[in-house]
Amino acid sequence: MTTHLPCPPLTVPTEGTTTRIAGGTATLRPLGPGEAEPLEAVFAGMSPESRAERYLTPVPRILPVMLRALTAVDGRDHVAWLASVEGRPAGIARYVRVGAGTAEIAFEVVDEHHGRGLGTALLDAVTTVASASGIRRLQAVVAGSNRASVHLLGRVGLSFRPASGTLEADSPFHLLTPARVDRAAVVRLAFGVLGPEPGASPRSTA
Ligand SMILES: CC(C)(COP(=O)(O)OP(=O)(O)OC[C@H]1O[C@@H](n2cnc3c(N)ncnc32)[C@H](O)[C@@H]1OP(=O)(O)O)[C@@H](O)C(=O)NCCC(=O)NCCS
Repeated sequence: MTTHLPCPPLTVPTEGTTTRIAGGTATLRPLGPGEAEPLEAVFAGMSPESRAERYLTPVPRILPVMLRALTAVDGRDHVAWLASVEGRPAGIARYVRVGAGTAEIAFEVVDEHHGRGLGTALLDAVTTVASASGIRRLQAVVAGSNRASVHLLGRVGLSFRPASGTLEADSPFHLLTPARVDRAAVVRLAFGVLGPEPGASPRSTA
């Protein structure tokens, strides 16, 4: 059954929710439609190796067509969240709905902030929104050497299998334990004052 969100963000959000990371705090908020600057800033802060891990091929620069696709968020079928540290874009996580109740997930963090818990916080935010949107399965494709992503996604229940040089997952997921973000704030920011449809609230990790 498709869950219809009552109030997808149609403008660039000005509010965010603050979360602790190692040695500081990060602010998380939904990426607005067509909001290219934070995406370009995060890309600029990624090493060639990180870009290749994210896009599964060397990507020296973001082409306009890629930028358009990556910023074509609609708050419903394509949801992206931005994390900023000290006011600067530091990471993005997204999901794209690929079928009823299923979405593909991807994320990236600028190299200077790797290992501080940003990827985990972003994952918690987007899985919270996904769960509240009626998504029950997540798909992901990562490079065979991408142990950080396999570890991170494993924490929400994804298990990977080898597939022609990459690792692929297509699994039911659960929310992280313990929560790394204020999930009530995430839902409020994602869906506005109306909240998600009744019955589509984030599931617990019992
Ligand atoms: C994957 C990525 C987003 C993780 O971001 P991050 O902010 O460094 O992640 P966190 O600090 O939250 O750490 C995530 C977990 O991975 C673990 N980890 C990090 N590097 C690891 C490695 N080489 N092997 C195993 N686990 C590793 C961390 O210990 C942590 O687990 P823990 O909380 O149980 O200790 C980041 O490395 C990145 O941007 N990589 C390039 C892009 C990419 O690979 N995207 C994913 C494919 S779509």
